[in-house]
Order: sequence, then structure tokens, then C-alpha cells
Amino acid sequence: MQNTELFFNSGNFRVVQFADIQEQYRVNPNTLRLMNAVLDAAKPDFVVLTGDQVKGYALDLFTDTRRRTNEVIKTICEPMTSRGIPFTATFGNHDSQCGISNAEQFEMYKALPGFVWNEGPGQGDEGTFCLSVEDKILIYIFDTHAKDGAGGFGALHKNQVEWYRSTRDAFESKYGKVLPSFAFQHIPTPEYFEVLKQVGRFSRGGVRAYGNFSNQWYKLDPHNVNSIRDFMGESPATSKINSGEVEAFLEKGEMRALIAGHNHNDSFLAEYKGMYLGFTQSCGFSAYGPGLLRGARYIDIKPSGEFKTGTYTFAELIGDITDKKLTYTLYEMAPVSIEGTKTFFREAGIVLGAAGAAIGGALLMKKRK
Ligand SMILES: [Fe+2]
Repeated sequence: MQNTELFFNSGNFRVVQFADIQEQYRVNPNTLRLMNAVLDAAKPDFVVLTGDQVKGYALDLFTDTRRRTNEVIKTICEPMTSRGIPFTATFGNHDSQCGISNAEQFEMYKALPGFVWNEGPGQGDEGTFCLSVEDKILIYIFDTHAKDGAGGFGALHKNQVEWYRSTRDAFESKYGKVLPSFAFQHIPTPEYFEVLKQVGRFSRGGVRAYGNFSNQWYKLDPHNVNSIRDFMGESPATSKINSGEVEAFLEKGEMRALIAGHNHNDSFLAEYKGMYLGFTQSCGFSAYGPGLLRGARYIDIKPSGEFKTGTYTFAELIGDITDKKLTYTLYEMAPVSIEGTKTFFREAGIVLGAAGAAIGGALLMKKRK
């Protein structure tokens, strides 16, 4: 049973999504400045945190871990708790890397004022549940787990997809129709590649695909974006297996949009078979990200399920960075993912190998002379 009711405000329900806050014990003040500025500008009815709130691999979390993790959670939720804005959260692939399980972190969120949650499929999936707004629209929150067991990033488990179907169908039986729905989660699904445009390796703005598609390059399809502000700075890093989640969403046509985080440099919404697949860029300054385009997404939802969405960015709301400039610059230079790191070293190896061969060849020629 949902612990708190959610309501439309003059016929509109405004959700703000913060993705990949990814903060450590010493929370970067710029992350909080951005979150506070977004909430002041957007005045949302509800906030969704879509995972990787905690930078579980941060060195400063490995001492007194439980208390420090709790401190991070409290600090990054303060923009909502101090304003009395109801909010919810699920998990990403980094939260539990500090050694505190998602289940235990979920209890830390539940202890905060305004945290909204519900029971889900259970079986260790505290971050999976469905929230109703006046029983007119449904907001699904999914925990995509960290890994898929096949070498890719995480995806829904079979029981979560079944739980989604039974939840959808229970509302349908109760109201005689399916309710317009929205889904938020951390990791995107393989279908995200289908809304992009495949391009040649040297095409300007093309990004090398991750996982099963790694010998292909993609960019946004200019005919299938939500706004000219949309951008894609890195490949969707999806699971290698397909959980069947999106296929299930398409069965009855009530799912309006699935919006993920995880890829800090991506922010767009594209149509897929009558629904939308989207990304929200990161808003945290203690991990890699899209520079001053770090930001958040708002989604304005009507009781009919009609919606519109857009983003707020640090550049527009605040301007330039005034402190921690060096740390910030270093993060901008860091490879974006493990896959990016591998590509970086592979390509650096090719360059170094070619340079070595050229030098060796030149020396040999000189010796022969
Ligand atoms: Fe992530």
C-alpha cells in the first residue's frame, strides 16, 4: 500500500527527475546548488531519483561506511525535504558498491520526511514499485540492478516484468481501462538503439555503441527528438540481454514513456512504437558529466496521460562554476565508462604500436645505411 497519496495540482502533475547525483561523503556544493535551483525554478509536485545517488566506489565512503552513506543520502535529499516536496528513489549500479545493500539504503530513504514508496515484487527489489496519482495515472519505479549476468549492465528480472503485467492488469480490472503510465529506472534497454540513427565511424557527432552493437556508430535522429536541446554524448550503456520489459509495455499501449539515467552525457526523448524512450543527463558534479549542461528533467503530466517534458541546466540556472574548478575539469576529461576506458586504452595502444613500429623501422633503415 502506497505510504503517501499523490495529487494533481490544478490538473497537472509535475515530476522532476534527478539522475546520477552520484555523490560522495563530501557532497560537491555545485550538485546541491543545481538541485536547489531546479526545484526553485520548476516547483514540482514530485521528484524521482533514478539511481546512482551514492557514488559507492568513492574512497571517502570506506570508513564508517553505514553512517557516511546515510549522511550522503540525507544531504542529497535535503533540497526536497527542506521544501516539503514528496520524492521517491530507486537504485543504480553504483549505490551499493560501498558495501551497504540497496535494501538497507532503502530504509535510510524511508526514514526521510516526504519519501513516497510502495510494496513491489519483493525478492530483494525494494527499489521497484508502482505509485498512483489519484488512480488516474501510474508511475512505475524499477530497480534495474547492476549487471545482467551476460557481461552487460543490469536489466529487469523476469519476476519484475511479470509483476508489472499483474499490476497493470489489476488496475485495468478495477477501472475497466488501463491507466496511462510512466516508467523511471536507471539503466536503459537495448531498444534505445532502435531510436537512434546509425552512422559511419567518422561521422561528426557519432558515438561508438556499447555492448552488442560495439562495432557500430550512432547519433540522435534529428527527426526523432523531443527538442533541439536534446543531446547524446555517449552510447546508451544497456544490458546485453533483453528482459522483455519494453515489449510488455507495448502490449496494452498505456505506457507513455520510459525515462532512464545512467549515461550522464545523454539527454533526449525519442518515439518508439507509440511510446517514448528517454534519458536525463546527470546532475552530480563528483562524477563525469556534460559540463554545464548537467541538469534535470521535468515532466508535466495531465490526468489523460498527455505530457510534455523539458530540461533545466546548470548553465541556464546558475551560470559558471566558481569553485572546485580543477576537480571539475578533471572529471570532464575522464573516460565515461569502463567500455570507454577499454576503447581509450585499445586506441592508445594502436597509436603507440604504430609509433613504435615507425621508430623501429626508421632505426633499422638508419642501421642499414
Ligand atoms: Fe549508472
